[in-house]
Formats: sequence, C-alpha cells, structure tokens
Amino acid sequence: MEIRPMDPEDVPLAQQLSDDAFYEAAVQSRRASDPPAQRRSEARVASWIARTTKFLATDAEGCFVAYDSEGLAGFAASIRRDDVLWILSTFAVRPGLQGLGLGKRLLDAAMTYGSGCPRWMLSASDDPKALRRYRLAGFDLHPQLMLHGTIDRSLLVAVDGVREGTASDLDLVDDIDRKVRGAGHGRDHAALSAAGTLVVDTAGRGYAYTELSGPILLAALDESTAIRLMWECLARTTGPATVGHVTGANQWAVDVGLAARLAIGAEGLLGVRGMAPPSLYLHHGALL
Ligand SMILES: CC(C)(COP(=O)(O)OP(=O)(O)OC[C@H]1O[C@@H](n2cnc3c(N)ncnc32)[C@H](O)[C@@H]1OP(=O)(O)O)[C@@H](O)C(=O)NCCC(=O)NCCS
Repeated sequence: MEIRPMDPEDVPLAQQLSDDAFYEAAVQSRRASDPPAQRRSEARVASWIARTTKFLATDAEGCFVAYDSEGLAGFAASIRRDDVLWILSTFAVRPGLQGLGLGKRLLDAAMTYGSGCPRWMLSASDDPKALRRYRLAGFDLHPQLMLHGTIDRSLLVAVDGVREGTASDLDLVDDIDRKVRGAGHGRDHAALSAAGTLVVDTAGRGYAYTELSGPILLAALDESTAIRLMWECLARTTGPATVGHVTGANQWAVDVGLAARLAIGAEGLLGVRGMAPPSLYLHHGALL
C-alpha cells in the first residue's frame, strides 16, 4: 500500500476514519464503570477538520495517508514547533486493517519530519496497539488521570491576579511554553482560541485555555500560579467539569481536583522522547 503526503481533500475522510477508529477503540477498552463510548460531536468534527487542514499549510511534510481499494486506510498527522518539538497530532488506521503493520509505516513516515528535533510529544489513547507502536518508537509512556464531576460551587477557591488574555499576550504565552515544554504554540493559537478562552496570570507567570467543561491547556512557571489558574478554569465551568491529561508529574492538579471533590479516573498516556513529562503543564490532546 502506497503512503503519500496528505492533501486537503483527504482531511474529511481522515476525520471520518479517525472517528470510527477512536470509537471502536473506546468500545474495546471501555470498563463497566465508564460512560458509554461516544461519537465525535458536530462541533468537534468541524474543529478537527479546520485544525488538520491548517497543518497542511504549515506542516505538510509531517502528514501522510495510505489508500487501498476500499478508500482511505490510515493516516498520521504530525507538526513541528520552533524546530525543537515534534508532536504527533493524530494517527489512525481503519478498523479491520489494524494490527497488520500499516500503523508502523505511517508513524515512521511522520517521524522523519521530526528527525532534527530534540523533543517529542504525543497524547496516546489506551489502545494497546498504539502503546506498542509508541514504546517501540522510543517514547516513554506516562499514564494519565482524568478528573471529572460537577463542581460544588461553594468549594471554589477565589482567585485573583488572573485576567482574560488577548492577541497581545501571545508572545508572553509562547515564552512560557518554551520554558515549560521547550517550544511555543505559535500558529496553534488560532485553533486554541477558537476552542477556548485564554486566561493569563497578571504577573506573566502562566496561562490557560479553558472551555465550559474545564481547561484544555494550562502552563505555569511556578506551582502556585498553576493552582490558581486551575481554580480559575474550574470557576468558569458550567455543567460537568473535566480536567484531563494529568500525569504523575502534576500532583498539584490532583490536589486541586480533590479539593473540588472531582472524581479521579485513568485515561490515556502522555508519550515523551528526549524530555520528561512537564510538571507545571496540562497538555492539549492534539496540539500538546
Ligand atoms: C494505533 C493504530 C493507529 C496503529 O495502527 P496499526 O496498523 O494497528 O499498527 P501496527 O499494526 O503497525 O502495530 C500494532 C502493533 O500491535 C500489535 N497488536 C495487535 N493487536 C494487539 C493487541 N490486541 N494488543 C497488543 N498488541 C497488539 C501488532 O502485532 C503490532 O505489533 P508488531 O509490529 O510488533 O507486530 C491503530 O491501531 C488505531 O487506529 N487504533 C485506534 C485509534 C488510536 O488509538 N490511534 C492512536 C491515537 S494515540
């Protein structure tokens, strides 16, 4: 099966294949206590397509597809930031074709795009095939917690020194990212600000993007700022709250979750190469 660079017209097909593959994987790995596996919402379909289409303008050399006689068979999309950090954004093979070696070929192709990068990150699903692939590709795998529940607002801790951010904060935000994960988010701020509200520490020590269910990305230069930002994100939730991508290096986030009486479950893994899991950082699932 030939592997070739991804084109814009491949993106909607890739979105559909990825929804199928992740749905199947969620059904397979679902524990009795988990909520039912869900298909991607219309809003998430639109943001997936917009984000991945943008990658083709900036990181086309990191994105690959494979076709067979039935259509799209698999794809991998990766990006590079500051020429320092390689990120696997999304990766899937059609259910029914999995476990036969196509994933390895797609991942190898995407990883050539990171060959000059000292740092590598990915956010892994619980699929054992994905974990085998990533570990064999040299990634250290760090299990993650997900904190979730409906916030009892009387438990919220009042926060000061946090305000909503604007485009003029993005240089500062990128500097924080460079200190915390090695590279700024740069051109990804458009996708991040479409997905959530930017909040920044008034002393310039941290920031978060937060949506109605909780933070989707949080970075800080010290633990007390990380904690204040997480409380701010929780205060902005309406309805059930979710704080995902919490690794063992983020015990401060576990403490905030416990203080807010959120439940703790395990979900997914952070994969890193050439770096430790950042401790004052809750990564974004696709933009890391
Ligand atoms: C992850 C994924 C993209 C990998 O693609 P793939 O074509 O299945 O990958 P490969 O066949 O190259 O590699 C899978 C490996 O797991 C092994 N494997 C197959 N079934 C397995 C199982 N049930 N448990 C553990 N390993 C298994 C395969 O033998 C292979 O290992 P090998 O190369 O040493 O033989 C694909 O399985 C998928 O789409 N999964 C669902 C979506 C997902 O989780 N994407 C990753 C996002 S982080």
